[in-house]
Amino acid sequence: MKAVRIHEFGGLEVLNWEDAPDPEPRPHQVLIKVDAAGVNYADLMRRGGNYPGPDLPASLGLEAAGTVVEVGAEVSGVSVGQRVMAMGPGGQAELVAVNGNFVFPYPETVDPVQAGGMPIVFLTAYHLLKTRGQLEPGHTVLVQAGASGVGTVAIQFAKAWGARVIATASTEEKLALCRSLGADATINYTEQDFEEAVNQQTGGAGVELILECVGGPVLEKSLRCVASYGRMITYGNASGTPASLPAGDIFAANRTVIGFSIGRSPQGRLDHQAAMSEIFPLLADGKARLVVDQVLPMSEVSSAHQHLAGRGTRGKVILTP
Ligand SMILES: NC(=O)c1ccc[n+]([C@@H]2O[C@H](COP(=O)([O-])OP(=O)(O)OC[C@H]3O[C@@H](n4cnc5c(N)ncnc54)[C@H](OP(=O)(O)O)[C@@H]3O)[C@@H](O)[C@H]2O)c1
Repeated sequence: MKAVRIHEFGGLEVLNWEDAPDPEPRPHQVLIKVDAAGVNYADLMRRGGNYPGPDLPASLGLEAAGTVVEVGAEVSGVSVGQRVMAMGPGGQAELVAVNGNFVFPYPETVDPVQAGGMPIVFLTAYHLLKTRGQLEPGHTVLVQAGASGVGTVAIQFAKAWGARVIATASTEEKLALCRSLGADATINYTEQDFEEAVNQQTGGAGVELILECVGGPVLEKSLRCVASYGRMITYGNASGTPASLPAGDIFAANRTVIGFSIGRSPQGRLDHQAAMSEIFPLLADGKARLVVDQVLPMSEVSSAHQHLAGRGTRGKVILTP
């Protein structure tokens, strides 16, 4: 088969679309012939050696969709020939073997190419808002980087679940996308003081929940936008900038700071199958959709990385073999 592989960590030059051995599925795995695979910010981190994964050389990608060609003896609920989406390392390849617990047969109405970009952002947004964020109808949620892959889904889920959404982004075009997905208010956090704007929007009370993935000063300021007894979830550091959070800003205002990593959650801790069974009806009812920025051949993976690193994307970039 061919796969997007790296033999060493580094810049765009370490990315190769090359021949690789076919994966040999273990008893708990499912072998999938890939139709499409999503690109995530974590792929850039993995390329740079800042995200865990199998020993090198290794195929990149954390998700894929395609047709099941083999089912391990220990896996149930999946059959050969079925169209599935899946989460697991090595998706940017013609074939991938994935843990059966992370394989999701999807409804016929879902486009097979879009399916490749769904698992990570759908499950991350779900667990951020519900499992970790304990979102309730009537809450206000601040979605930082609202036009990102995760942000575009989080806005739609939060609206579907009865919340009010404030979204931030770096350009007017991205803010317009956030509004088209249901955001009630948007802030260009590169031009405007978002702390002041959130204060105005909430009558000084702050928001019940913040989804924060930018880091640095955005994380520091976000903390001060959390309402008393509200929560901020830090789940990424796209800016690559460190931050420090003063204890007084947390305890004195009865705030909670939560960490989340889907890829580093202990096995079995998150119920992804139950999450998907709530997510698919949202798609069927037109309450959520995947925003696709670009579909590129896997041989052009370096353009995809460049596009994400340059903050150019709106929604997801998807690769096809
Ligand atoms: N913890 C988890 O389980 C989990 C799962 C998935 C993703 N994530 C994290 O969530 C974030 C979004 O992931 P994604 O895959 O949806 O990525 P993405 O679509 O590439 O979005 C990243 C966003 O971060 C913002 N950003 C701010 N400073 C940036 C910089 N210096 N370089 C690049 N982007 C910058 C950009 O929005 P603006 O231009 O509007 O600022 C960009 O749209 C990332 O931090 C990722 O690591 C975490």
